[in-house]
Amino acid sequence: MRLLVIVLLGIVLIAGAVYLSTNLAKAAPAQPIAFSHRLHAQAGVQCLFCHSSAMRSDVAGIPSVQKCMGCHQIIAADRQSVQLLAGYWQRQEPIPWQPVNTMADFVYFSHQPHLGAGISCETCHGNVAEMTVTARVTNMDMGWCLNCHLKQPQEKVARLSDCLLCHK
Ligand code: HEC
Ligand code: HEC
Ligand code: HEC
Ligand code: HEC
Ligand code: HEC
Repeated sequence: MRLLVIVLLGIVLIAGAVYLSTNLAKAAPAQPIAFSHRLHAQAGVQCLFCHSSAMRSDVAGIPSVQKCMGCHQIIAADRQSVQLLAGYWQRQEPIPWQPVNTMADFVYFSHQPHLGAGISCETCHGNVAEMTVTARVTNMDMGWCLNCHLKQPQEKVARLSDCLLCHK
């Protein structure tokens, strides 16, 4: 009887660990260059300097290699990770960054109205400025969107919970 309990407990623990590790792997995919938000935040580089489309369009945008090289032709140019970056620049190749947050095609989302309403990046993406590896902090499913939309001022709730707002 005791053996059975131990075996069952073992199975539960292993299943839990596998579940957690595959979920974490999805939350923080491996990137072609070890890019650390933490290092750049500490250097005082603002989110919008790199993600400059966020205020005016649907997408926040990932900075071009050219933007990186604006600093890294000089800063830390002797380091291996920066030389890897310079390799993409010399070959005129975009860096194949792996998406961290993904949204199904049938959902419409835009950064601009959210930033316009004064919502900070951290509200949706967590404390990115402390991340050495960029990770997804929430599932961003329909419940998550609606949870916030339903908390908006009463006169806006009907519009913000209309199916066609997010499913065009
Ligand atoms: C020096 C440029 C730079 C700065 C500054 C920067 N980022 Fe990024 N960001 C990147 C790059 C490059 C990636 C893609 C690689 C990665 O995911 O780590 C990225 C990825 C992201 C992602 C994930 C994108 C996805 O695929 O879903 C989020 C969210 C993000 N940044 C938010 C922020 C926030 C918030 C700040 C300010 C605290 C910030 N970034 C500052 C360059 C920058
Ligand atoms: C209201 C929630 C919300 C806020 C606020 C927000 N984001 Fe996002 N962000 C999202 C969602 C949802 C996605 C996934 C969208 C998609 O894949 O279409 C995303 C995707 C991204 C991406 C990857 C795709 C892209 O658009 O380029 C980056 C980079 C990013 N956000 C950066 C930022 C930065 C920087 C800020 C602050 C200036 C910010 N976000 C504020 C919800 C938010
Ligand atoms: C505004 C200037 C600036 C921009 C733009 C910038 N960086 Fe940096 N980056 C820095 C600074 C400052 C450091 C910290 C250097 C140090 O540790 O002394 C750094 C550090 C790094 C490092 C770590 C070097 C190491 O191994 O210690 C990598 C890799 C890196 N950046 C990649 C990128 C990439 C990729 C981009 C473009 C998406 C980018 N950087 C854009 C200023 C910048
Ligand atoms: C933290 C709160 C919050 C979250 C999370 C959030 N939203 Fe919003 N959303 C808002 C606010 C506030 C507005 C602007 C309302 C206004 O117009 O005053 C808005 C506006 C919008 C609009 C534009 C409305 C228009 O006027 O055209 C769309 C589309 C939208 N949200 C989709 C989404 C989707 C899809 C998600 C989930 C992936 C999401 N939102 C998550 C708070 C949020
Ligand atoms: C504020 C934005 C928002 C509104 C409003 C909204 N949805 Fe969604 N919906 C989403 C998001 C985001 C997803 C994607 C979930 C995912 O990928 O996990 C989704 C997914 C779905 C799905 C697919 C479910 C699945 O499991 O794949 C259906 C069906 C759906 N929505 C129907 C509706 C209907 C019907 C309404 C109106 C009553 C509605 N939605 C209103 C954001 C919204």
